[in-house]
Amino acid sequence: DWDMSSLAERMIAEIKKQVGDKKVLCALSGGVDSSVAAVLVHKAVGNQLYCVFVDHGLLRENEAKEVMDYYHAKLGMNIKLVDAQERFLSKLAGVVEPEQKRKIIGEEFIRVFEEEALKVNDTEFLVQGTIYPDVVESGQGNSAVIKSHHNVGGLPSNISFKGLVEPLRTLFKDEVRALGEYLGIPKKLVWRQPFPGPGLAIRIMGAITPEKLEIVRKTDAILREEVATAGLDRKIWQYFTVMTGVQTVGVMGDGRTYDYVVAIRAVTSDDAMTVEFAEIPYDLLRKMSRRMVNEVPGCSRVVYDVTSKPPATIEWE
Ligand code: XMP
Repeated sequence: DWDMSSLAERMIAEIKKQVGDKKVLCALSGGVDSSVAAVLVHKAVGNQLYCVFVDHGLLRENEAKEVMDYYHAKLGMNIKLVDAQERFLSKLAGVVEPEQKRKIIGEEFIRVFEEEALKVNDTEFLVQGTIYPDVVESGQGNSAVIKSHHNVGGLPSNISFKGLVEPLRTLFKDEVRALGEYLGIPKKLVWRQPFPGPGLAIRIMGAITPEKLEIVRKTDAILREEVATAGLDRKIWQYFTVMTGVQTVGVMGDGRTYDYVVAIRAVTSDDAMTVEFAEIPYDLLRKMSRRMVNEVPGCSRVVYDVTSKPPATIEWE
């Protein structure tokens, strides 16, 4: 529509003016804000934009591939996929405490991003997907830190940029989505549920192991597939599985099993500050539970989290 096209035109013109013929760097996360910001900047300055997508090994099934298929193959953007899985997973080995996990991932991310940034000579600008609520929030002192909420994409401190490109600074989330749709970004990306920077690390209770990662990733893929098939993906704010780390006794065929409990977390909300558990139909829960236990080795029991926020948070860690 006309409003969106004039907004987009104005933003693109401003970016062109700010950046000139210089190089711009962007840490793409696949999230809505960084996606819309990157596509706008790409429209403004094309291949002067260098995007970096870090695979920290804690992504959901197919996530890296989907990002590359769209930005690289479809849009022809300059984007580098950095496979840093080994690096992150070895740093995280044996780490149990949630804030410690966040700290390690946040710091390692900045390190990886800095290394990539230094490979692109003479970048003068950095793109950030900052939106209006972020601007407001960061201006307020929080009295108690519940979770440090590291956003993957923090500012590298060892490189100095001439400036930040923050085209979405004045927009609310729904405006960012509308702009994203106007720009032709697939609905799947524009309406994506929030996914935390530390990724699956904070959905595995206790130490992260390849086995546990595989269980949470595979069960999460089943959950997402079934929620989408049932047409509930826009009705639920966030939905994911949690690898509880707890083992229980079960029976399969004639044998005893002693495998892991996976929890389904699905919530409705407007803003993530307060949430109710989503009333997923029993039939759907039954179907998902059956599939998870049958298709995912190591998962032998599925439970549903029926807690509101507060007192429980959305994520388990
Ligand atoms: P909680 O679990 O505090 O989550 O109810 C509120 C929202 O924030 C997301 N979340 C995070 N996002 N880094 C992020 O970028 C984090 O460390 C982090 N922890 C929680 C969570 O998914 C929900 O949308």
